[in-house]
Order: sequence, then structure tokens, then C-alpha cells
Amino acid sequence: MEKIKIERPTIEDVEEMNQFFRLVVVDTFAQEGLAGLQDNIEAEIETKKKYLSMDLNSNGEDRYFLIAKRDEGIVGCIDYGTANELILSSTDGEFEDIVEVGTVFVHPEYRRQGIANKLLYAMYKILREKGKDEFCLDSGYTIAQQVWKKKFGDPDYLLKDYWSEGFHHMIWRVRLRDLVNGE
Ligand SMILES: CC(C)(COP(=O)(O)OP(=O)(O)OC[C@H]1O[C@@H](n2cnc3c(N)ncnc32)[C@H](O)[C@@H]1OP(=O)(O)O)[C@@H](O)C(=O)NCCC(=O)NCCS
Repeated sequence: MEKIKIERPTIEDVEEMNQFFRLVVVDTFAQEGLAGLQDNIEAEIETKKKYLSMDLNSNGEDRYFLIAKRDEGIVGCIDYGTANELILSSTDGEFEDIVEVGTVFVHPEYRRQGIANKLLYAMYKILREKGKDEFCLDSGYTIAQQVWKKKFGDPDYLLKDYWSEGFHHMIWRVRLRDLVNGE
């Protein structure tokens, strides 16, 4: 397989990243049968755009992204930062001092080739270097929930029917030392 580079974003990546957020969010809502939720789709894209500008404006202090690139362009991303409102409000402050890993997005045409794992492993390394020994992550998307359950086991918090009947929200607390071979 062609080499994938994992890099920190620069100002030059913003336009392509914003298009990439839209591509992945629109596709994911469609896959979940939620293509009609226009307001939620736009809100999700705006949040991701804001996170990226927080990263660039703070040099990675307020939010920290990694992006995966192939010759043809951006194929994935991941970030970490303060846990989002939904995590904080539904866990009674447990995650106030624990960072959230999120925006794990892989281009629909490049899935199941290990790109998300590559981004996760790179992020674990960064988190360790920054002295963090755990993180949390959450998801309301049913497909991603299968991925995270496979990787991290049952969620620590299950917000049953949070989005609507049968659409739960899940939150995991992950200790880096518990990951097999550090991955
Ligand atoms: C979730 C997502 C990031 C996975 O990306 P990916 O590059 O296809 O994942 P990888 O190929 O690295 O696989 C990671 C693991 O998930 C498993 N996996 C991947 N897709 C899966 C699926 N559809 N169902 C079940 N398991 C799956 C792989 O087998 C692998 O398991 P392993 O680590 O035990 O070997 C990607 O599907 C995506 O971008 N989804 C849309 C956006 C999204 O929902 N992001 C998460 C937000 S919380």
C-alpha cells in the first residue's frame, strides 16, 4: 500500500480539512439513516471546523489534530482536547481532567485499511509524551460504536435511547497502560 503520512495540520490544510469534515459527516449521517437531520449535520461540521481553528490558533494547546495524508490528499484525522459538554454533563465531572480523543474520521473510500488504527497509535504516542495516562471518547454513531466496542470493550457509560429509540450514546474511559503492546 502507498505510504500514509501522519502530520500536524497547518494553515494550508484548512480548506481541504473543512471539505473533508463535510464529506465524512454527511456520509456518516446518511449511513446511519439520518440524512434528513440537516441542522445536526451542519452543527457537527461547525464544531469540527472550530476545533481545527482552536488548534491552529493555540499551536495545539487548546485542541490537537493529526491528519493522515496520501499523495491524493487527506484521508483521515483525529484530535484530542477537553471533553465535550455531553461527556461532562452525563458523567458527573468524572472527565473534567481527562482529555477526549475524537474526530476520528477516515475517508469513506479508504476504510478498513488500518488508517484509524494508525491515527490512534500516533495519538497514543503523543498523549504519553504529554504525560497523559488516559483519555475518554464517545460516540452516537452505531457503526463507530461497533469499532470502539471491538477496540475498547463495553462502554463505561451507556446513555440508552439518548438520540431516539434504539440510538444510544456511549462513552469509554481508556487507560493507555491497558492497551495491548501500547496499542
Ligand atoms: C470509525 C472509523 C474511523 C474507522 O476507520 P477505519 O480506518 O476503517 O478503521 P481501521 O481499518 O483502522 O480499523 C480499526 C478497527 O475497527 C474495526 N472495524 C473497522 N470498521 C469496522 C466496522 N464497520 N465494523 C466493525 N469493526 C470495524 C477493524 O477491524 C479494526 O479492529 P482491530 O483494531 O481490532 O484490528 C471510520 O469507519 C469512520 O471514519 N467512520 C465515520 C466517522 C465516525 O463515525 N467516526 C467516529 C466518530 S466517534
